[in-house]
Formats: sequence, structure tokens, C-alpha cells
Amino acid sequence: MGTMTNKEIRIGYSEFDSIDLLNDDDRILAQSAIDAMKGSYAPYSKFNVGAAVRLDSGEIISGANQENAAYPSGLCAERTAMFYANASHPDSSMISIAIAGGRDGILCGNPATPCGACRQVMAEYQKKGGLDMSVILIGRDRIWKFDKVDDILPLIFDSL
Ligand code: THU
Repeated sequence: MGTMTNKEIRIGYSEFDSIDLLNDDDRILAQSAIDAMKGSYAPYSKFNVGAAVRLDSGEIISGANQENAAYPSGLCAERTAMFYANASHPDSSMISIAIAGGRDGILCGNPATPCGACRQVMAEYQKKGGLDMSVILIGRDRIWKFDKVDDILPLIFDSL
């Protein structure tokens, strides 16, 4: 016979009204992500995204979205930052990533949220590094902090 059960996944996160309310490390990382928006090359979408990754050493690596006339050849800010972080510091763990996005360089009111492909890449590096990677999404009016990648990518593929 067997049974059917309805289940629920709940996700907790913190909301802050201002980047000044973040702890020192997170505030500095958030500011790095905002600053990194200047490196965005987005002539097609005009949507600028900056990302900043904190390594367990304390070092911050940032990146910005890079577009291309052949659209799929471009890359999101998050992956630009994470791929460079791992390429240049293969023995470090990524313990936090901050993301800031907005049109024409102006931060969106609500935080811009990372695409599915970037979440999957975060999951990979979180697992490789062996430490939780917090995710800080920065908007003009509010900031959301998730303690680990699992919170923005429930049911992560982990069967290999
Ligand atoms: N983009 C990012 O850099 N990160 C995201 O999480 C979502 C989207 C970029 C890709 C493209 O250059 C532009 O934003 C519009 O999609």
C-alpha cells in the first residue's frame, strides 16, 4: 500500500535595512561587490552586476558581469569572481559571496538574486571548500543574508 506525505522546505534568512547593519566583514564585502559593479561590461542588457568573494584567508576577490555580442559567450558576475578566486587560490575555501546588481549602475531597490547556474557553481565551491558559504544579496532598500548556499539552492544535486 504505502503512504503519501506532504512535506515542506523552509528557508530562513536575515533582512537588513542598510549595509551599515552588517557585521564588519560582511559590510566590507558588500561594499566590494557594489564597487565591482564598475567593472561590469554590459552594453547589451545595461544591467550591471558586481560580486565579491571572501576567502578563508580573509582575501576578497571580486568580479563583474561580462557580456558578448554572441550572447551566450558572456558570463555572470558571480561566476567571473568565483572562477578567478578558485583559479588563483585553489587551496582556499570561499566563505562568503556578496552580490550587487542594478540597471545603468544604479543598485536595484530589491536585491538582484543569482541565476540558477551561478547557484550551482556556488554549491560546487562550497562543497570543495568544506565550509558554509554565506550569500549576501544587496539592494538599495534591503539586504538579504543566507547562511549557506543550500538555502538558495534546496535539494542540491549531491548524488555522485
Ligand atoms: N547577471 C549576473 O551577472 N548575475 C546574475 O545573477 C544574473 C544576471 C548578468 C548577466 C547579464 O550580463 C546581465 O546580468 C543580464 O542578465
